[in-house]
Parts: sequence; C-alpha cells; structure tokens
Amino acid sequence: MTKKITTQDHLAEVQASFDEQQNPRLVEILRSAVKHLYAFVEETKLTREEWMMGVEFLTATGQKCDDVRQEFILLSDTLGVSMLVEMLNQMPSDVATDPTVFGPFYVPGAPEMAMGSSIAREGNDGEPLVFSGTVRDATGKALEHARLDVWQVAPNGLYDVQDPDSAPYNYRGVFETGPDGYFEILTSRPVDYLIPTDGPVGQMLAATGRLAWRPAHTHFMVTRPGFKTLITHAFDADSPHLSSDAVFGVRESLIIDMNGGTAVFDLVLDVTDE
Ligand code: BEZ
Ligand code: FE
Repeated sequence: MTKKITTQDHLAEVQASFDEQQNPRLVEILRSAVKHLYAFVEETKLTREEWMMGVEFLTATGQKCDDVRQEFILLSDTLGVSMLVEMLNQMPSDVATDPTVFGPFYVPGAPEMAMGSSIAREGNDGEPLVFSGTVRDATGKALEHARLDVWQVAPNGLYDVQDPDSAPYNYRGVFETGPDGYFEILTSRPVDYLIPTDGPVGQMLAATGRLAWRPAHTHFMVTRPGFKTLITHAFDADSPHLSSDAVFGVRESLIIDMNGGTAVFDLVLDVTDE
C-alpha cells in the first residue's frame, strides 16, 4: 500500500525546497513563514472560498497602493504587526523614550528649519502650539546636533500628501538641536483623525466592528550619530481615542498635556549597539 502524505510531510517537502546555501537568512524567513501559514490554515480549517477571499483581499490591497498611498503598511499597522516590529527592533532601555509606529505618511526631504519656526506653511487655522523639549542621552547629558524630523496632520485632519489643496511639506520640518540639546517648534495642536478607510483595510475594519481613529499626535524621528534612531509620537492627553488607537501605537509615557498653547516633550536616546 502506498504511504499517504500527511500535512507534516507536505510542509517538510516545501521547506526543503528552499536551498539555504543560496541565501540563508531569506530561507530562514521563508521556512518560518510557510510553517506559520500552514498552521494558520490548519487551525482555522480554511475553506477554498475563504482562501480565495483572502487572495482577493490582498490583490485589492496591492491595487490600492501608489506613490503616496501604501495600503500594505496600513494593513500591517491595523493588524499590530508594525508596532510589533518596532517593539522588537527599537527596544528602548529603561530610561530611553518609548518608540511607536512610523506610519505611512512620512515624506523624506522636509525643509530644514531654524529653531522656533513654524511647520504650518499656510494659514495656521488650528490652535497654536509650541512644542519644546531637550534631547538627552541615557545619562542625562544634553545632545547637540540631534536632528528632529517632525510631521503631523493639518487642522483639517489630513496629511499634506492626502490633500490636493495643501502646500507641499505643510506641517513637516527638520530641526537640529544646539549645544543645550533644546528644541522649540511652532505648530498647530494636532487633531484626532481617521486613517484612510476607502480601501480594503477600511472594509476589514468595518466588517469587524473596529474604529479607524488615531488619537491626536505629532510624529518625531530623532537621529544623531552614535545613537539609535528614535521613531515616536507625542500624543495629546485630551484625545478621546487614546485607548482605541486603530494602529495600537499609544504608550502611556508618550501622552502629554497640550493645553494652554505649550507642550513639553523631552526625549532620551540610547547609544547604538556597535
Ligand atoms: C500615522 O500616524 O500617520 C498613521 C499610522 C498608521 C496608519 C495610518 C496613519
Ligand atoms: Fe500620524
């Protein structure tokens, strides 16, 4: 009698088809991905129709992507995978600032700005806000030449790249700390906003009873030679969506008071491992 091939035999055969002599890291990742995908299919007893729905969903996700819209990042964000990758890759020391998601709306090449200037490039029609703080190392020493790339939504709840009427680089700017590590940035108080819901990710959220709100925040990416890049946000303590962020990015240490036109956001960087 011929031996029946089990699902375990099938997995082993597929895993063995990848040659680790060619590219060991890629093969490690693919073998693991295949193992977990098979476990998922078996655990959920996925039907052929459900598998096809998944294929169609991923196809639509790819078709929604263009130069400024990245639906796959949005999918990763809303499934919490982006935050998991940041948690594992940016693991901060006890004193360093907590990281959070990068998000799909970062645009490289924002203008370098003088300390204290405004990232609102046209009609600052929101509630004026001055962000200030000091960038330090883990011992408390102020860090000169830390570069802060800052971005946020406009008061209408849209990033510049989502709004055909927006000036380029509206609510984006790059600042560099002086010898005292201090920074000061003029902006408008960030507002709560909806992540894009006009694509397959929005359909997934609606079909599962989830909200698409992100609590009001300003993004910071802080770089400094010799230190780990910090990707984080400052969240507004008054937002009603802090406990239901669509992308699971809120950390208590990042919630700050933005009332009265000022917000203090001190930042601590970890040195690089090398
Ligand atoms: C953002 O904060 O820009 C963002 C993050 C994840 C998904 C959508 C937007
Ligand atoms: Fe954002």
